[in-house]
Amino acid sequence: MSQKVALVTGAAAGIGAEICRRLAQDGMAVGVLDVNIEGAQKVAGEIVANGGKAMALQASVADRGEVTGAVNALRQTFGPVTVLVNNAGIAGFVPFEQVTDELWDRTMAINLKGTFIVTQVVLPDMKDAHWGRIINISSSSAQSGTAGMAAYSSSKGGVISFTKTLALELGPLGITVNNVPPASITGTIMYEENKNLMPMTPEQAAQMMPVRRLGEAADIANAVSWLASEATGYVTGQTIGVNGGRVIG
Ligand SMILES: NC(=O)c1ccc[n+]([C@@H]2O[C@H](COP(=O)([O-])OP(=O)(O)OC[C@H]3O[C@@H](n4cnc5c(N)ncnc54)[C@H](O)[C@@H]3O)[C@@H](O)[C@H]2O)c1
Repeated sequence: MSQKVALVTGAAAGIGAEICRRLAQDGMAVGVLDVNIEGAQKVAGEIVANGGKAMALQASVADRGEVTGAVNALRQTFGPVTVLVNNAGIAGFVPFEQVTDELWDRTMAINLKGTFIVTQVVLPDMKDAHWGRIINISSSSAQSGTAGMAAYSSSKGGVISFTKTLALELGPLGITVNNVPPASITGTIMYEENKNLMPMTPEQAAQMMPVRRLGEAADIANAVSWLASEATGYVTGQTIGVNGGRVIG
């Protein structure tokens, strides 16, 4: 079988970088897309140094022209893209009354519209292959609500609804669409920047988790690896909570 090609967005750091490493270990050629090209080059370089295939791509997921250019470069180098992980996202704690139009629009543009744009640009390859895996990284904040995250939670709620709708449209074409909502994944830029704004210390938050620990990027990468595999042809439209039991059901 020919090598599968995966595109991961927001892949220069954190969860996205770990997903890239994992999909490369699974035997895929990986497009490491980020606005931060130095970070993306570092991740792609590590994968290549370990014997895998990867290329760094610079684009903002909110810019259709940049995304199209990056996806075309990936196709030309490795071939059609049939695995897509929409992981790029921004977050921040802002009390609702202080949320500006600019913050709202920027959050929607990257977290929700970016997911729409990248999926639409990649989709023709999956249709041609009659096979595809789309995995959207949402958030437990969309499931439970989180005080101070109105824009973020709303954008991620949109990602969950987008997942369900696309699963219905693309299922007949052999393409599955699922989402993974993480909760408190430590060590990422997003978590480290926001942890002091959270109502509990990391230690208290860990004690609240049914599994009594916070998450790691590898926890998410494990789930994405499964969802990207041949094993999940009968799994679509689902929200696969990888959250230590923080949200159940
Ligand atoms: N870390 C957590 O606890 C947590 C919890 C729930 C959900 N998530 C979600 O997981 C995903 C990854 O989060 P993380 O913690 O690894 O974040 P992170 O901040 O460590 O990494 C995000 C990456 O996205 C990139 N990015 C930002 N805007 C972009 C754009 N317009 N186009 C392309 N790339 C862009 C950044 O440069 C960065 O490399 C996000 O969607 C986030 O909302 C994370």
